[in-house]
Amino acid sequence: MSNNSNPIGLFDSGVGGLTVAHAISSLLPQERLIYYGDTAHLPYGDKSKKAIVSYSKGITDFLLDNNCKVILIACNSASSNAYEEVKKHAGNKAKILNVVDPVVDFVAESTDMKNVGLIGTKATINSNTYPDRIQSKNSSLIVNSLATPLFVPMIEEGFVFDDISNAIIRSYLSRNELKDIDSLILGCTHYPIIRNQISRYYNFDVNVIDTSRIVAEYIRDFLGDNDLLSTSRKGKDKFYVSDHTLYFDAIGRIFFNQSIDLEKKSIW
Ligand code: DGL
Repeated sequence: MSNNSNPIGLFDSGVGGLTVAHAISSLLPQERLIYYGDTAHLPYGDKSKKAIVSYSKGITDFLLDNNCKVILIACNSASSNAYEEVKKHAGNKAKILNVVDPVVDFVAESTDMKNVGLIGTKATINSNTYPDRIQSKNSSLIVNSLATPLFVPMIEEGFVFDDISNAIIRSYLSRNELKDIDSLILGCTHYPIIRNQISRYYNFDVNVIDTSRIVAEYIRDFLGDNDLLSTSRKGKDKFYVSDHTLYFDAIGRIFFNQSIDLEKKSIW
């Protein structure tokens, strides 16, 4: 039975979902989070659908065992390749949410976008989930997609706000696929970490959409509509990784302004 003070579970392949976790914590400080970063299998973006589905189901079981009231797939590669399978797997034990649908709705309903760029992992871009869903809701929008697979390892290795990351960002964003865009969807939860660098590349002329904020607002509305909002926090947030990486700790501290409660936990 779901209880309002039960935690929100969320998972990603690594630190990326922390952008969403942080946005949820800022908006809903009374909610407790349980986060799983599957660093042992990172990156998901280069894996087959079958592998992504299998990892996602395993983590879902772990989060269900931890009594999560809802589970957010805080990873675009898994949201666009494994959402239906995970939903079926969880049955009526918990609501499963993904990070793609809230952004699709936001973009499809906007009145000031026309030529939208989309960047993400190969798994996300090859699934075509974003363009298909956006165009089924608003056929006047043009979606220009580009896979940017170097961004995840670059971010996981801590190459941000430096010359190397600026060079990689420039090399991808100057491609023809993204010519003349007015807005850009960061279709990977790792990318908000380099959002400022991306905005700077465009001299702030392109609307680089804050996807983590959109997802957090969606979670707030979803919990409110389903009478699942917590009124008082019961305990600390907990973070698990399937393998230790030094950077996970560091980025967690940057996001949450303090050392996070981090534990290595293999669930396979
Ligand atoms: N943060 C992820 C995403 O949103 C995962 C990237 C990866 O592991 O390749 O797609």
